[in-house]
Amino acid sequence: MPRPKILSTRPLFEAARRILDATCDVDYWTSPERINRAELLRRVQDKEGLVCLLTEKVNDELLAAAPKLCIAANIAVGFDNIDVPACTRRGVAATNTPGVLDETTADFAWTLLMAVARRIGEGEQLARSGNWKGWDLDQLCGTDVWGKTLGILGFGRIGRAVARRAAGFRMKVLYHDAMHATEAAERELHAEYRDFNALLVESDFLSVHVPLLAETRGLLSGPQFARMKPTAFLINTSRGPVIDEAALVHALETGKIAGAALDVYENEPFILPGLKRPNTVLAPHLASASLETRTKMACMAAENVVAMLTGKRPPNLLNPEIWKER
Ligand code: DGY
Repeated sequence: MPRPKILSTRPLFEAARRILDATCDVDYWTSPERINRAELLRRVQDKEGLVCLLTEKVNDELLAAAPKLCIAANIAVGFDNIDVPACTRRGVAATNTPGVLDETTADFAWTLLMAVARRIGEGEQLARSGNWKGWDLDQLCGTDVWGKTLGILGFGRIGRAVARRAAGFRMKVLYHDAMHATEAAERELHAEYRDFNALLVESDFLSVHVPLLAETRGLLSGPQFARMKPTAFLINTSRGPVIDEAALVHALETGKIAGAALDVYENEPFILPGLKRPNTVLAPHLASASLETRTKMACMAAENVVAMLTGKRPPNLLNPEIWKER
């Protein structure tokens, strides 16, 4: 039996390579430069499996270029880079990596929250600059985190992991989601439901954890920032386009909110110059970037590919319709 041919747009990690290499012939893109679109379309032509990143669009164009493709395995939980209906129309499985990155991403949302509240970016710059003149009473005074109100927009696995961490800071936890959590979950996490408006009005820290969907694109814009407290901070580790960045810059400039800490942007890797301000903390899409978690994500993607190409249902199938057709 010929071994299935796979394209991986990254060299992955050894553990993930072992999973793939055991059953497949893998073309790993190893250049430090990202694979460009033309090269991706060329290399995927004869492949049955694709292991890809959220920076690569799996759309009709790619699917048309890859007539043998059976699976596109994203190394990310978010899959807005994959046109799932287009995959379904062609019988191609689409998979993602849910669950393994929840705690790591929640850690990072807290990293950003603490950093923006306590002005660590500015402090670090001063400490490294050679201009620090020593302790001073009013130097870089930030905002207390403990005892404040944490608002969580999107109360899925990651939002809940963020909520769980708030207990140590004796915070009041509010959430908004399209679906109410069960009473048991609310009790366990000491979280109270609020409608979207009330969440905006009451939160001292608003942490965003919704997926990017048509309904969430631009969810936070001028009118929403106008409802927030002028002392409030916005934290985003979900997807950039959930926030209208131009409106955010305006809100920051005009003091509608106190600051923002962002890991994701509307047009990555471009970062709007207006976001580069003292009252923002900016990270380059790192929330799941611990070696342990990124290794697990890569292994999950590899397992999805191997399952599909050995006749088993991929564990993280996003379009189960294609499986029923088998
Ligand atoms: C995801 O998984 O969707 C992240 O944005 C990358 O970890």
